[in-house]
Amino acid sequence: MASDAAARPAEQPTAPYLEAVTAYGLRGSTRFHVPGHKGGGGADPGLRSALGEAALLLDVPQDIEGIDVGPDPTPYQRAERLAAEAYGAARCWFLTNGATQGNHALCLALAGPGTRVLLQRNSHASMIDGLVLSGGLPRFVSPEYDLELGIAHGVTPEALERALATGGPYAAAFIVSPTYYGMAADVQGCAEVAHRAGVPLIVDCAWGAHFGFHAALPRSPLELGADAMLASTHKIVGSLTQSAMLLVADTGRVDVGAIERAVRLVRSTSPNALLMASLDAARRQLAVHGELLLDRTIHAAARAREAISRIPGCAIVGEQWIGRPGVAGWDPLRIVIDVRGTGVTGYRVASALRASYDIHVELATHATVVLVLGIGQPVEPLDRVAHDLAETVRRITPAEGAATVAADPGVLAQLPAELGPEPVVPPRDAFLGRSEAVAVSEAIGRVSTEAVAGYPPGVPTLLPGELVTAEVVSYLQALVAAGARLHGAADPTFRTLRVLV
Ligand SMILES: Cc1ncc(COP(=O)(O)O)c(C=O)c1O
Repeated sequence: MASDAAARPAEQPTAPYLEAVTAYGLRGSTRFHVPGHKGGGGADPGLRSALGEAALLLDVPQDIEGIDVGPDPTPYQRAERLAAEAYGAARCWFLTNGATQGNHALCLALAGPGTRVLLQRNSHASMIDGLVLSGGLPRFVSPEYDLELGIAHGVTPEALERALATGGPYAAAFIVSPTYYGMAADVQGCAEVAHRAGVPLIVDCAWGAHFGFHAALPRSPLELGADAMLASTHKIVGSLTQSAMLLVADTGRVDVGAIERAVRLVRSTSPNALLMASLDAARRQLAVHGELLLDRTIHAAARAREAISRIPGCAIVGEQWIGRPGVAGWDPLRIVIDVRGTGVTGYRVASALRASYDIHVELATHATVVLVLGIGQPVEPLDRVAHDLAETVRRITPAEGAATVAADPGVLAQLPAELGPEPVVPPRDAFLGRSEAVAVSEAIGRVSTEAVAGYPPGVPTLLPGELVTAEVVSYLQALVAAGARLHGAADPTFRTLRVLV
């Protein structure tokens, strides 16, 4: 757990919300309330056999006495409190629309209309969407780019400090750590510079809900001084898809009441009990057994990494990256394989793995294949993955004279050095404004209503409200010509772009 295990509160081995939902679900109460399937009795038989009886019996609504209604603290309140305790937070909210919901809520709470916030340029799309909802004004700080691998790392404290010194005042600074590739930023350093500037630091730790629960992992952002963090608990810690947590420290730098109201605003009035029960259970497993489970997974991952690194043409990207700009730590639950030496792209390796072994990876790029592990990762598939990868690579590698694949389609170096430091129109006005699709050459000098990111490196080159420049257009055209994918573009061929009328 994020705090000392010896000081573990006695209640961590319980799961009050899961237990209350189970007690109600299974005791045979008469249900004259929603949902209409009535605990499964009224459900389509096919659904009933697919999900099993228990899932439908536990699918209970909000406001059931003894679950989230009754004397304080209700089981629901106790479950959120236990999660807060496990992470060393003052407050936790269970989210039933992913970390996405958390980013929306944070923007609504901290970045109201006309309020300026500092944002890592390659923040998740839900951050920009959050500003569309809230009317806040972003200014951007660039992450570090790794031209060798064609990926982006974290923001450095120095870059954050420089950014905080211009264009403020800022109501909050938002950074992402770890990255999709498991590289953790220097959160402590970032928290120090943010706090010196009088600004709360919010860390999107969607990919690091397990951080702080094993000595070999980076510490959790709240331990490192962040004022709030998001944990996309479903990604690695094992709650059900779409469940996540928003956690706030007791630093007093963020308005807990405002976040409370915002979380409610972006939450259904019928939050899914299965999702919330899975958060309660995942927290229990992490707090009570996490260290041991992680230990087993980390050791199995090390064995797999070692075997993979012996495959001709494959190299492991990981611990040795620590110390590069924007990389202060690393997540051993990610296996990032640099396949450039095989002479084929990561896309090709991933599709061959799928075809031959029914292995589905988290991510493939031009240069890499990324495997994501879970805290209680079954070890057997990990022990066999190197064999399957070696066979796959052997079959698809060009017979001879294989040239090493470039890290990116050759245009990353042309990424405009200074992507718009801030939109010319608030993202909200651009997104909601009247727009038209025009040929990209005619879009130059106009205001984009779209977010467009090229993969690699996954950095949004255009955001809603930004002025379309000739440099950005030719960069995106070069990416498309080189076979890269554009995310977010209404026209992925990038012949047209939607701009404000
Ligand atoms: C950095 C980051 N933040 C937020 C999210 C959104 O998380 P969720 O899918 O739980 O809504 C993601 C999703 O991949 C992410 O990578």
